[in-house]
Amino acid sequence: MRKPLMAGNWKMNKTILEAVSVVKALKSAVADISDVEILLCPSFTALYAVNNEVKGSNISIGAQNLFWETKGAFTGEVSPAMVKDTGCSYVLVGHSERRQYFGETNETVNKKTRAALAIDLIPVVCVGETLAERESNVTFQIIEKQIEEGLAGLTPKQASLTVIAYEPVWAIGTGKTATPEQAQEVQAFVRKIYAQIYREAADKVRILYGGSVNPGNVSELMKQPDIDGGLVGGASLEAESFVKLVKYSVAN
Ligand code: 13P
Repeated sequence: MRKPLMAGNWKMNKTILEAVSVVKALKSAVADISDVEILLCPSFTALYAVNNEVKGSNISIGAQNLFWETKGAFTGEVSPAMVKDTGCSYVLVGHSERRQYFGETNETVNKKTRAALAIDLIPVVCVGETLAERESNVTFQIIEKQIEEGLAGLTPKQASLTVIAYEPVWAIGTGKTATPEQAQEVQAFVRKIYAQIYREAADKVRILYGGSVNPGNVSELMKQPDIDGGLVGGASLEAESFVKLVKYSVAN
């Protein structure tokens, strides 16, 4: 059985104090939850303080990015060891905003994914098609290439530890969620491609859905057999709505 994972991606939001204040509220509200894994991805600047707040709780933390080199003259970059040093066990890789605004490609996604795994950070590798790609009926080709190239060269163990997030770009921050059927169709395809490359790891890999997930649509999404959790932006920013997402199975 795959344990559901509910992840909040705070993107470029919150000062340290703001982040800690949300985490304090969240921590007590989810203290009794053990059937869902809870992950928060604050900005780099808040990671250390948030980690101090979540220590000993059921909340894990992740960074939103990392660089693949171990150290050196790479001004502004953050190494895998530095990410780990803040207490992270996860790291987001290849979010569509990074692909769109910061030139990330399947090749750099692969370097980052492998660098994360090499230091025992679990990568949450984001894939997804743009609206133009969906309308041109190339969604499956795009996703296949993102998986094949972005996740090339993993060991079977690494392949089963890795988390995939399917985030259709047209559904991010738009309020336009993929229907549960649309998400399921692509996520089943992701698992099929994964099985062709990594065989048994396909049953273990968790595939999250992301794109306008909110307390009102989470339970229908989570009923789909290949949706193992959510990667949530806007609705994870306040403790109250994120708690509802984490408790989706209790609430419905
Ligand atoms: P929203 O939930 O705000 O649409 O963002 C989704 C996302 O990009 C999470 O990584």
